[in-house]
Amino acid sequence: MKKILVTGALGQIGSELVPALRERYGDDNVVSSDVRMPARGSDEPLFEYVDCTNLQQIADTVARHEVDTIYHLAALLSAVAEERPRMAWEINMGGVYKVLEVARQTGCAVFTPSSIGAFGPGTPKERTPQTTVQRPTTMYGVTKVAGELLCDYYHERFGVDARGVRFPGIISYVAPPGGGTTDYAVEIYYEALKNGRYTCFLRPDSRLDMMYMPDALHAAIGVMEVSEERLRHRNAFNVTAMNFTPVELAAEIRRHIPGFTIDYQVDPIRQAIADSWPDSLDDSAARDEWDWNPEFDLASMTADMLEKLAPRLARDETTRDETTDTDG
Ligand code: SER
Repeated sequence: MKKILVTGALGQIGSELVPALRERYGDDNVVSSDVRMPARGSDEPLFEYVDCTNLQQIADTVARHEVDTIYHLAALLSAVAEERPRMAWEINMGGVYKVLEVARQTGCAVFTPSSIGAFGPGTPKERTPQTTVQRPTTMYGVTKVAGELLCDYYHERFGVDARGVRFPGIISYVAPPGGGTTDYAVEIYYEALKNGRYTCFLRPDSRLDMMYMPDALHAAIGVMEVSEERLRHRNAFNVTAMNFTPVELAAEIRRHIPGFTIDYQVDPIRQAIADSWPDSLDDSAARDEWDWNPEFDLASMTADMLEKLAPRLARDETTRDETTDTDG
């Protein structure tokens, strides 16, 4: 039976990966951890405070819960990392290094997400191959490439079962992303439902790979479950589900919300990051080696996203009104 530790569990991916893992492996077999505490009143059954730059804290938690698999999600995203490059190095690099060290000492398997951010302007932009030029020009990308190499190294040198995927932008409605370049593709749904309009920080023609959260969860679980005889790459698999521009995404939203409008106020920093990333990944290695096969495209994701997000926003609105009433 697997016993899993998830770092960064309160972030965008962790908030949905933890419940998915619990459903699969049982509530008692998944320990969530973060440097924030779960919201008061949350029904979090098994939580530990773990700062992933603190090796001893990771090691103690792994020992206390007899963990055999670590999903290491704690990291700063691209735009925040560009604002705080030293902190990004410490958290992104320090975290993956310390998690791998604990894994080496304890025999844990490790999942680490890399990203489309591991590519750079010299990478072929279309159908970006699994193995290609990786010279990113962002601190986020530097830490992602170095993390990929470190995972390979710990496997080759010490036999650590380190696996991972290169995620594109991830779109979801449970927890917001924490400062990435692809965040516009999440914000746009919230603003479309709340205000019927959105001001986008990327140019209308910025094409990037994206994925809906249910597919991201399948990827994270799928790559860890496949038998290792099938793996030729093991780590840093390209995975994607769709690619689109802000114009195309807005057009799809308009099919559901006819009056929706978008305008643009380009943020030069995030635009430069987006311009340095691929337009579309070739994910055939993941498809061949562990049957990666995403379910959602732009149309089905948009329909589901709007359907699921609308009642959540309405509920938030009601709660806010009730709070205001009480205070008043
Ligand atoms: N979504 C991430 C970001 O924008 C990319 O992996 O930083």
